[in-house]
Amino acid sequence: MSRNAARLSALLLAFSAPAFAADPLPYHSEPVAGLDDQEMLDHAIGQAVFERLWVKAPSSTKSADGLGPLYNARSCAACHPGGGRGELPDPAKPGEQGIGVALRLGSTGSVGDPVYGRQLQVQAVAGQTAEGLLSVTSRDVRRVKLPGGTTVRLRRLDVQPVGLNFGPLAATTRTSVRVAPPVLGAGLLERIPEADILAAADPDDRDGDGISGRPNRDASGALGRFGWKATNATLAAQNAEAAMLDLGLSTALFPAPWGDCTEAQAACRAAPHGNQARFEGVEIPSSMMGLLDRYMSHTQAPGATPPDGPGGALFTETGCAACHRPAFTTGDDPANPALSRQAVFPYTDLLLHDLGPDLGDGLAAGDAAGGEWRTPPLWGLHRLTSQDGKLALLHDGRARSVAEAILWHGGEADSARTRFAALSKADRDRLIRFVLSL
Ligand code: HEC
Ligand code: HEC
Repeated sequence: MSRNAARLSALLLAFSAPAFAADPLPYHSEPVAGLDDQEMLDHAIGQAVFERLWVKAPSSTKSADGLGPLYNARSCAACHPGGGRGELPDPAKPGEQGIGVALRLGSTGSVGDPVYGRQLQVQAVAGQTAEGLLSVTSRDVRRVKLPGGTTVRLRRLDVQPVGLNFGPLAATTRTSVRVAPPVLGAGLLERIPEADILAAADPDDRDGDGISGRPNRDASGALGRFGWKATNATLAAQNAEAAMLDLGLSTALFPAPWGDCTEAQAACRAAPHGNQARFEGVEIPSSMMGLLDRYMSHTQAPGATPPDGPGGALFTETGCAACHRPAFTTGDDPANPALSRQAVFPYTDLLLHDLGPDLGDGLAAGDAAGGEWRTPPLWGLHRLTSQDGKLALLHDGRARSVAEAILWHGGEADSARTRFAALSKADRDRLIRFVLSL
């Protein structure tokens, strides 16, 4: 690997993304402690792959290429800046597409739209036609009065595909907006022992607490951990899917060079591509994907706070910890001592919960029903403390603040929301401060 790594690093140097503009990013990735020299070198190269601005094939450099033909962004980091989360577009600036906002397409019994595929690609390489753009508007739908004279306004987003260049979506196609979640600490989530996750599952709610919690499974039956609906079992699978859907790049797992282009999109399928014999017949060879996967798994968790103090007690008493499970210990992975037997505080059970019709998108994914979502990890929210009120929380980014996010909880989280809404102002503020300290 190390000779390979040196060669790749030379290739990549020419292509690393320019540093992001002057504003410091709220999220930034750090390697986990305990990596050896070789792992640190691989980490740096893997980070360059994550930040790399891909180009259309064939590029003059004979390097790995093959962006698109249809794509959503040119790099992983463009949607996960610093390894962090995406942002909705500013409604005051029509036409803006936000950061890391993707429109998933599907219908009952079929993966994707027959013409547009699994995701709307809003960009295309020169000579090709992008599928369309997103229009995002919002409207207030509810006012919730809380003790102490506070009123919280809840808004719904209306996200529509506009300027569709391949005709209308099929009548049966449903859409689901997804904002890019933070990706730091993913290798630690990947190494939480399956038995510890399943121990908390209670699909038939036998203990009668109103909270079930079901695992999702991928096509091979492996426990799903990644994505808003926990559809992917491993980082390698999630990353290869991202390369295909978001960047239009082929890998061993998705070898077709045209990414998400369907048969109906003939020009896209016929476009020049970057599949090359010397890269194992694909656009990103497995050595380069391996460096990307390892970089991501070696990113440090963005927070490490046990549920201590009065805030932590309130979090548990209000019922949040029933799903946002504070602590786990990672399993033993002899190939990755730095990730083994680590105490982690992700505040997720990695299980699916039905949060009610207000949050449901009607799109099943694997074993996840249209109303079910994986409990998202809450670690890392301390990086966004000063932005509470301007956030893009929940799968579609509708919640601008932690209070809004909680007030949208329904279904299995009904009683937790009711308890939250009944807290005194002092306790409510304490709980929110705690969530924003994670
Ligand atoms: C167009 C924006 C976009 C690009 C580019 C993108 N992502 Fe994502 N990413 C997303 C969205 C949206 C999700 C959530 C998808 C879902 O669950 O439906 C996501 C989810 C993820 C997750 C799951 C995190 C978790 O805990 O659930 C990982 C890991 C990830 N992306 C890695 C990558 C990598 C690696 C790349 C580059 C190869 C990449 N992403 C490129 C938007 C993007
Ligand atoms: C029944 C399980 C459950 C309970 C109980 C629960 N949550 Fe959640 N929480 C979820 C799920 C699932 C989501 C994702 C929903 C979505 O994106 O549509 C979520 C999302 C969130 C988010 C947004 C995270 C992000 O990255 O966008 C916050 C913040 C949050 N919950 C805090 C809380 C707090 C605080 C409580 C207690 C008052 C609580 N939750 C109780 C399951 C639960």
